[in-house]
Amino acid sequence: MYTITLLPGDGIGPEVVAGAVHVLQAVQERTGTRFITREALFGGCAYDETGNPFPEETLKLCLDGDAVLLGAVGGPKWDTLPVEKRPEIGALLPLRKQLGAFANLRPSLIFSALADASTLKREVVDGLDIMVVRELTGGIYFGPKHRETLPDGSVKAVDILEYSTGEIERVARVAFDLARKRSGKLTSVDKANVLESSRLWREVVSGLAGEYPDVELNHILVDNCAMQLVRYPKQFDVMLTENMFGDILSDQASQLTGSIGMLPSASLGGKVGLYEPIHGSAPDIAGQNLANPIATILSLAMMLRYSFDLPEAAALVEQAVSSVLEEGYRTSDIMQPGMRQVGTGEMAELIGVRL
Ligand code: IPM
Ligand code: MG
Repeated sequence: MYTITLLPGDGIGPEVVAGAVHVLQAVQERTGTRFITREALFGGCAYDETGNPFPEETLKLCLDGDAVLLGAVGGPKWDTLPVEKRPEIGALLPLRKQLGAFANLRPSLIFSALADASTLKREVVDGLDIMVVRELTGGIYFGPKHRETLPDGSVKAVDILEYSTGEIERVARVAFDLARKRSGKLTSVDKANVLESSRLWREVVSGLAGEYPDVELNHILVDNCAMQLVRYPKQFDVMLTENMFGDILSDQASQLTGSIGMLPSASLGGKVGLYEPIHGSAPDIAGQNLANPIATILSLAMMLRYSFDLPEAAALVEQAVSSVLEEGYRTSDIMQPGMRQVGTGEMAELIGVRL
């Protein structure tokens, strides 16, 4: 029996989480494994109700369960709050930190049925299967930041990018281990021609290579990597990078697969894993049954695999998603001529039925 803490959050978050819970029930019926879910306030909705985007109680519930499933947080409504009350800085980043979720796995896997939905040519993306490993609890996101007024009256803002050898080593090991289980190829992305933190990154990652003789390690500069990702993305398998580069490159990699609405993530390293779609709260389509729940449903599959060690159940979910796409069902973000458009709830139901 496993206990899952649900953090639906804001915007389309509640709709896509409801879709994943529907699929979870189908997994329970199909496999006999029991799951208990409970919900907590997180993000803008938590601020509205309690004055705090990340209530103490929510953290307690998360730490007390076996895994966390998060929808999305944020929206224009909360963008003008003091920085520490905003859903991103006041809730999402502290949650990642408190859970010790330093390794963020973001797979860019294309479903063959969607190879024509990408803005890139089919032959460039068909068969694509990249795993981005993004460092998630360090770097410029968490370094000291401040503003100061200079003697001439102008204002200076500072964000510090720092990494220690320990922080680099632990996330690099996750990437090496994954590469070992996949094709044995690891690309570490940095900006070692300019940044001191990147030079340390490269040294530490290279230093580990001797322990993984079965993994072929390459280094690439982040600007070149961005270019290669649209030129010939299939050259990559596991990609390892620091927090901000990973944020940017994982959005770029997601678009290769047709829609950011398809991409799940797992944030690992602590006792309790955190699972969330990589898309945001999309306030413009919230509450309209338009959102694509597949990214959250695939995040649930990652939870079954990485937190609960139920690889067969995870594969069932992924296979069900694939079948529904093959049959021509699409949400609006991946709609193509000749296909059948369905809403958020119907998509989740179709996937549940095919489990
Ligand atoms: C992501 C998001 C977040 C990030 C934002 C919402 C703070 O873009 O998960 O990629 O930058 O990490
Ligand atoms: Mg991002």
